[in-house]
Amino acid sequence: MRIVVFISGRGSNLRALLEHQENYTICHVISNRHQAAGLSIAQEYRVPTTVISWHDGAKAEAQALTLLNDIKPDLIVLAGFMRVLSADFVTKFSHKIINIHPSLLPLYPGLNTHQRALNDQQIKHGATVHFVDQNLDQGHRISQCHIRIGPEDTAETLAARLLSKEHKLLTTTVDKIATGQIYWQDKHLYYNNQVITQPLVWPEI
Ligand code: GAR
Repeated sequence: MRIVVFISGRGSNLRALLEHQENYTICHVISNRHQAAGLSIAQEYRVPTTVISWHDGAKAEAQALTLLNDIKPDLIVLAGFMRVLSADFVTKFSHKIINIHPSLLPLYPGLNTHQRALNDQQIKHGATVHFVDQNLDQGHRISQCHIRIGPEDTAETLAARLLSKEHKLLTTTVDKIATGQIYWQDKHLYYNNQVITQPLVWPEI
């Protein structure tokens, strides 16, 4: 399976994906920012990169589309990509774009997820891998991981604790898509040939 990863910044999820390329290949990385640290991670792994300025979303998407039409990836992974893709763009890749989001969706779509969980005095928090559709962070959920929120937690401690779990969640989910254990068919999510109605949760993550 050939995968294109979109990033905007640090790239720690990208690094995790690059470290686990047994059943898939990261063949290109697209960033909307020149300064994204993740670009040097891609270069470390000799993966081609393209920076596309996203000031004009329509123009950016047209550029991305030209590139993707050329690369023809099987899957697009948004790994810390902080731009919203248009409905027109995502429908061209229906159930071929996944995103990792730092909350237990449907809770806290959008930004500042850790602080919002704390403000609501939640006792648990987590991350979700989901298909990307035309509604922000609302596409069909594939998998989730959980962490407990303790009395001492701040947005920073939550973000840090969650991040290492995110890496495992994303790499496990992508690997299972690559090996055909997770797939989308006839409007349903399948795991090991069974329809799944709730996000997958693995006890070890
Ligand atoms: C991750 O925590 C990811 O879940 C989040 O950005 C961070 C990127 O870190 N994504 C979003 O908030 C998307 N809405 P990374 O660049 O080190 O992978």
